[in-house]
Amino acid sequence: ICNRGVPMAILVTGGAGYIGSHTVVELLAAGHEVVIVDNFSNSKPEVLNRIRQISGKDFAFYQVDVLDKDAMRQVFKENDIQAVIHFSGYKAVGESVAEPIKYYHNNVGGAIALVEVMNEFGVKHIVFSSSATVYGLNNPSPLTEDMPTHTANSPYGSTMVMKEQIFRDLAASDPDWSITILRYFNPIGAHASGRIGEDPQGIPNNLMPYITQVAVGKLPALSVFGDDYPTPDGTGVRDYIHVVDLSLGHLKALDRNLTVKGVETYNLGTGEGYSVLDLIKAFEEANGIKVNYKIVDRRPGDVATCYSDASRANQLLGWYAQRNLVDMCRDSWKWQKENPQGYDVISQA
Ligand code: WQD
Repeated sequence: ICNRGVPMAILVTGGAGYIGSHTVVELLAAGHEVVIVDNFSNSKPEVLNRIRQISGKDFAFYQVDVLDKDAMRQVFKENDIQAVIHFSGYKAVGESVAEPIKYYHNNVGGAIALVEVMNEFGVKHIVFSSSATVYGLNNPSPLTEDMPTHTANSPYGSTMVMKEQIFRDLAASDPDWSITILRYFNPIGAHASGRIGEDPQGIPNNLMPYITQVAVGKLPALSVFGDDYPTPDGTGVRDYIHVVDLSLGHLKALDRNLTVKGVETYNLGTGEGYSVLDLIKAFEEANGIKVNYKIVDRRPGDVATCYSDASRANQLLGWYAQRNLVDMCRDSWKWQKENPQGYDVISQA
């Protein structure tokens, strides 16, 4: 679709990140023009080369912080933005407890600054990342979108609850807005090419990147955080979803967002819960590798069980998770094995 002589584009904030980069690959494959905004606070420039390599296509890139409204205005001036997919934000639960103001400023402040600039340019279509963490400690799985989300068990989770509330209030104040809230469950896996994947800075907080770093020899052993939960084998149960399925969910959400007004909320999960020991076993069988682990105390703030009812996304978005736990384990391992230092490009000697 062209007007003002330039093709209409999808603006992807945080497009150099784990989920963002996988979504950009699918947007390009589907024929969208893409503009990425990323400040590399939790990502590296190399991923942009990988996206071009996988997709065989190019895109506009701006190294900009969404909080920098003048820089963001320039992005909207130079491109004809049709809609925004908003990924950028900090997401380390433990860090958010230690540095709550950094999280509120960046995650909530960033979302507000973004929609203020969008409003100035009359761009009122946004799909944004929320998280199953908004369901807090008291909602029973399978989780459905109508459940209360007033509790969150970390400042990171509270930023998600607040962002959702801000977007609901915005839509109530201006019916021209089309807002899609996507609550992710536990994204793992990588693009089948092994050229992009999860590249956490420092010691991984999340289970799968920790497992792959043990498997590749970067870390000695996995600590399993508690085996005394009220679950089948005592370890935590989660709804692991392949990051490519999650990315394709964004394309379905975008298509619907461009045709309806108001706020819609969707769980993006498989609807299946797997325990930590299930995941270790699946990883070992999928890849023929032993993973060293030891059982340690529970991690504060963890819930025993968290998995989705994704039927609303299935029915209204026509989206279904297609990839299974073996696919997730195989693809995570291929990425890690072929990129033991992640995106840290070994400078060509
Ligand atoms: C999964 C399971 C742990 C690490 C968090 C955020 C959520 C989302 C994904 C931010 C749990 C166990 C983990 C380890 C372990 N977004 N585990 N040893 O906590 O479900 O969700 O990350 O990234 O918003 O809340 O994901 O991968 O940290 O934990 O035993 O070294 O693995 O106890 O049962 P979580 P996780």
